[in-house]
Amino acid sequence: MAPSRTLFEPFRIKSVEPIRITDRAERAEILDRADWNLFKVRSEDVLIDLFTDSGTGAMSDGQWAALQRGDEAYAGSRSWFRFENRVRELTGLPLILPTHQGRAAERILFSCLGVAGKQVINNTHFDTTRANIESLGGVAIDLAIPEARQPGIDHPFKGNMDLGRLEQQLDRAGADRSNPPVAAVMMTVTNNSGGGQPASLANLRATAQLCHRHGVPFFLDACRFAENAYFIKLREPGQGDRTVESIAQEMFSLASGATFSAKKDGLANIGGFLGLSDEFLAQRCKELLLLTEGFPTYGGLAGRDLEAIAVGLTEVVEENYLRHRVETTRLFGRGLAAAGLPIIEPPGGHAIYVDAGTLLPHIPPHELPGQALACALYLEGGVRSVEIGTLMFGGIDPTTGLERFAPLELVRLALPRRVYTRSHLDYVIEVAGEVAAKRFEISGLRIVEQADSLRHFTARLEPVAGDDSREMMQWEPETVGV
Ligand code: F0G
Repeated sequence: MAPSRTLFEPFRIKSVEPIRITDRAERAEILDRADWNLFKVRSEDVLIDLFTDSGTGAMSDGQWAALQRGDEAYAGSRSWFRFENRVRELTGLPLILPTHQGRAAERILFSCLGVAGKQVINNTHFDTTRANIESLGGVAIDLAIPEARQPGIDHPFKGNMDLGRLEQQLDRAGADRSNPPVAAVMMTVTNNSGGGQPASLANLRATAQLCHRHGVPFFLDACRFAENAYFIKLREPGQGDRTVESIAQEMFSLASGATFSAKKDGLANIGGFLGLSDEFLAQRCKELLLLTEGFPTYGGLAGRDLEAIAVGLTEVVEENYLRHRVETTRLFGRGLAAAGLPIIEPPGGHAIYVDAGTLLPHIPPHELPGQALACALYLEGGVRSVEIGTLMFGGIDPTTGLERFAPLELVRLALPRRVYTRSHLDYVIEVAGEVAAKRFEISGLRIVEQADSLRHFTARLEPVAGDDSREMMQWEPETVGV
C-alpha cells in the first residue's frame, strides 16, 4: 500500500453485532443506578466500549475454524500440543502452564516464588499484578524511567526501567528491614499502567543483565508483547529490518519466565499461560495449577480456546495487522489531542490515556478527576472508558497505613482488536471534544462504599456536591451525541 493512501482495516467484516442506541436521559439514569461506577454498566447500555482491549477482540475466520478442531480430552489433547508448540516456538521457554487468564498465571508464579516479606520490582505493575503481590504479603515497587510520569514529554520507550534506581534497589536489597530481599524483577511490555508505552530491547537486555548479576529472576508480563516488539522494530536503531517474531523471540529469551494474558496479544477472548525455564519452580507451579486451574494440559481452558490462542499468537505478529493497530491508535490519539484532550505522549499501542488531572484542575485527586471524566464521556456519548488513577491505585497503603494517590489521574480509552472502524473512533473524538469544551462543569466524585482490595471494580460513588453537582454532570449539550 502506498504510504500516502488511507490506511484501511486489513480485514473484511463477516459477522456483525448491532449496537443499541441510547440517549442522554437514559444514560443519566443508568449511571445513577450503576453508582457512577462504569464496571456496573451493562454492555448493552454502551455505544462504544473502550473499557478494555482485554478479551474484547474479534477473532479471525482462521480462529473460528480452529475452534472446530478443539480436542476436549482431559489429558494430552491435540489442542494442548498445538498450543504448547506455538508458545514454545515464540517464547523459547521450555515449560508452559496454561491458565484461564493472566492473573491466574501471576497468582501461581508469585505464590510459588514466595514473595511474602519481599519486593517485586516492575516498570509499572498492572492492578491485578500489584494486588496479587500485596495479597501474598509482598511489596510491589514501580521503577519506570522518570519520563514515564511526564505525560507531555515525547520519548520512544517510556516503558523502560530506570536502570540506575533498579541497580540501587538491588544493591540495597536485604541490607535491613526497610530494604527486604527482591523476589523478582518484572517488565510489563507494553507498560499498560504507564500509558501502553513500550520498552526497548536495549533496556530489557540491561535489566536482565542487572538481575542476572544480582541472582534475581527476571520475568516478562508479556500481555502485549507483539505491540512492544513492533515498536522496537519501528523505533529502535538497528531493529528495522527484523521480523516482529524474531524481536519477540529475543525479548522472551532475556527472561527466565513470562506471565501472559491471551486476552490481549493472544487475539483470543480468554486464556493465558505461565512460561518458565526453571524446572524446580515449574514443578511447584504445576502443583498449584492442578489445585486451582486444572490438569496441566488444559489449565482451566477448553481445548477449543487453546486452538484459538495458538492461531492468534501467529496472527498477532503479522506486520499488516500491527501496522494498522499501532497507526489507528496513533491517529485516534492525534484526534483526541486536536479536540482539546491532554494525552500521554506519544500514543501507546493499545490505548490512549487522557490526563484527566490536567484537563480537570478544579477536581482534587481525592475527588477522582479520572472517574469524573470517564462518567462524563459516558453521559455525553455512551462511550465507556476506564479510570487509571486514584480510584484504581489509591486507598490505604498496606505498609504505611496512609491514604495514597496515583502519580497520574488518567482515563484510558482502550481499543479492542479488530472491532471498531475509523468512524466509531471519529465519533468518540467528537464526544470527547464536547466534554473537554465543558470541562469546568464536571464535578468530582466521592466514594460511598469500597472493598479492601481492587476497590475500583465494586466501589459505590456519588457526585461530591450531592444533587447540585449531579445536575451539573447532566448539563444539556449543545449538540447531542446520539
Ligand atoms: N498484566 C497486564 C499488563 C494487564 O494489562 C492485565 C490485564 C493483566 C496482567 C491481567 O490479565 O486480565 O487476563 O487476568 N489487563 C486488562 C486491562 C484487564 O483492561 O488492561 P488478565
